[in-house]
Amino acid sequence: MNNNDSAIDEYILAHIDPESDYLKALYRDTHIKLLRPRMASGHLQGRVLHLLVEMIRPQRVLEIGTYSGYSALCLAEGLPQGAMLHTIEINDEQEEFTRPWLENSPWADKITMHIGDAMDIIPTLQETFDLAFVDGDKRIYLDYYELTLKHLRPGGYIIADNTLWDGHVLEEPHPADKQSKGIIAFNDFVATDPRVERVILPMRDGLTIIRKKDKR
Ligand SMILES: C[S@@+](CC[C@H](N)C(=O)[O-])C[C@H]1O[C@@H](n2cnc3c(N)ncnc32)[C@H](O)[C@@H]1O
Repeated sequence: MNNNDSAIDEYILAHIDPESDYLKALYRDTHIKLLRPRMASGHLQGRVLHLLVEMIRPQRVLEIGTYSGYSALCLAEGLPQGAMLHTIEINDEQEEFTRPWLENSPWADKITMHIGDAMDIIPTLQETFDLAFVDGDKRIYLDYYELTLKHLRPGGYIIADNTLWDGHVLEEPHPADKQSKGIIAFNDFVATDPRVERVILPMRDGLTIIRKKDKR
């Protein structure tokens, strides 16, 4: 990133909705106490997720990959009355940090946190989702995609994070680099999947927005 990029980033953050004190405190705590804090969505992406929820007005939302709960709170914040976010985290050591942040938030009654592998938990939820945020293990994005699409209503949306993978999508991946391979396979498949419409937003690490086509 050059100086101009970071100046533009600062400009953007100064001209969008501010981050709430609660999210600011969570972001700070994430950086103090957790490994790999860059995984948290942060101010800009958080506001994008929030506004997408306001636009889509979903009743049932799925998140794969809770981590510290930053994106979960941004998704839940915009949910209408009676709606529910199911957020799934595979790492049980994460629960001690994240659950209190979710449960002490103003949106606690709109969030259900599950600990376990999303691939096992999603089929047990018996829900049809209006919106899913896919942000788990990059190696199996295509598996998440197929499973999520199966549990998504026609006209529903999937938002997939990190789909530009720090630019590595442009390179031939090292044979051992299963994360880059996973993202590239996902992007290539989704690009021509006739069941959906899609666009990649080149913000942060790439955000793909996918709409499951209505049945005609
Ligand atoms: C990039 S972080 C999520 C960041 C969070 N969504 C945010 O934006 O603030 C990815 C998380 O997915 C979790 N994860 C990886 N594989 C998973 C799986 N199969 N099911 C559920 N969670 C998974 C990881 O443990 C990690 O905490």
